[in-house]
Amino acid sequence: MNFWRKLEKPIIGLSPMDGVSDASFRFITAKYGEPDVITTEFISVDGIAYGARNIFNDFIYHEIERPIVAQLFGIEPEYFYQGAQIVCELGFDGVDINMGCPAKTVARRGAGAGLIQNPELAREIIRATKRGVVDWFEFGLSKSINRKTLRELSSIKNTLAELGTKFDKEKRIIPVSVKTRIGYDQESVEVWIPEILKESPVNITVHGRTLKQMYQGEADWSALTKVGHIINDYNEELDEETRITYIANGDITSAEVALEKLQQSGADGLYIGRATYGNPWIFENIREKLKNNDYVFVEKTLDERISVALEHCDLHHKLNEPQGFVQMRKHLAWYLRGFPGAVKLRVDLMKTNSPDEVRHVLSLHKVAY
Ligand SMILES: Cc1cc2nc3c(=O)[nH]c(=O)nc-3n(C[C@H](O)[C@H](O)[C@H](O)COP(=O)(O)O)c2cc1C
Repeated sequence: MNFWRKLEKPIIGLSPMDGVSDASFRFITAKYGEPDVITTEFISVDGIAYGARNIFNDFIYHEIERPIVAQLFGIEPEYFYQGAQIVCELGFDGVDINMGCPAKTVARRGAGAGLIQNPELAREIIRATKRGVVDWFEFGLSKSINRKTLRELSSIKNTLAELGTKFDKEKRIIPVSVKTRIGYDQESVEVWIPEILKESPVNITVHGRTLKQMYQGEADWSALTKVGHIINDYNEELDEETRITYIANGDITSAEVALEKLQQSGADGLYIGRATYGNPWIFENIREKLKNNDYVFVEKTLDERISVALEHCDLHHKLNEPQGFVQMRKHLAWYLRGFPGAVKLRVDLMKTNSPDEVRHVLSLHKVAY
């Protein structure tokens, strides 16, 4: 089943963000923003192949997040083959291949955005991932998957069952997609995008920066518009069932910008990353604006933001207890901005280690609860 083609356009999705979009963040975003599609943080295929416990925790998700896509990164086609099978076994709606991460630890090995320089390998990885999905559908899990990986798989299935996630509802062939950038050290979409198209991933998401730019400067929307033309030309030869969807991404900060960039790029949709920090409502805002251009978004009150921040805290604590609270602190800072006393409050929240401590600090600052 290819959910990408069934989504109403324009598709507005949550961009994957390592260290940010973990299961608790995605749950809150799904509940209060309802993006059309959600992607996990990138997950190492090496870690999957070796059965690393901390890697498997990245597979935790809730039913409310559907359609949810698991994103994989690495360099070994065989590991992508195995990783795709694990993603299928865990009931995800799609599998995405990271060809955009600029981090030195990833790209210098040739993974992530490093693959832009090695299109042959990039194509082999897409083929291996697709094969993993189809073979899993026809024959079940491959014998090449090691025992430690199978143990972690079984443990994460128990966790998903406890959370009420229906990971084993139906056996289906899930779509394989790619997320990438506009080039390595310079924009090269006219060469790079056709290489990916040769393997017909079901969806291509493009972030409008090169690897070299990391997250600096502005996203290049003229390059993203060029990608729109390349993919539209490619699709012209195809029927509805086989056409590739295109998601453009980079610096969407408001509903107004979203509208403008959708029109400019000819994309089927947008992915939103950093603008979701402390603001799951951005999806609601964009959706309403698309329906009615006169729509004016009413900012959430401080009480509403605190209530959601605490719900996020509680879930984060439940899923990551006890060592993981440090990761939650930045989210608190993002939710609680723009009111008198916010700076001092944020300083104190940065020292908290549990939801109880957060509630205590909030009460000391007399902002709530
Ligand atoms: C903290 C952080 C982590 C990211 N992690 C990933 C990732 O795991 N996989 C991925 O494909 N992109 C990742 N990205 C890139 C974003 O998905 C997105 O492409 C980029 O931030 C541009 O979109 P934005 O301007 O809406 O934030 C990350 C970005 C940030 C800021």
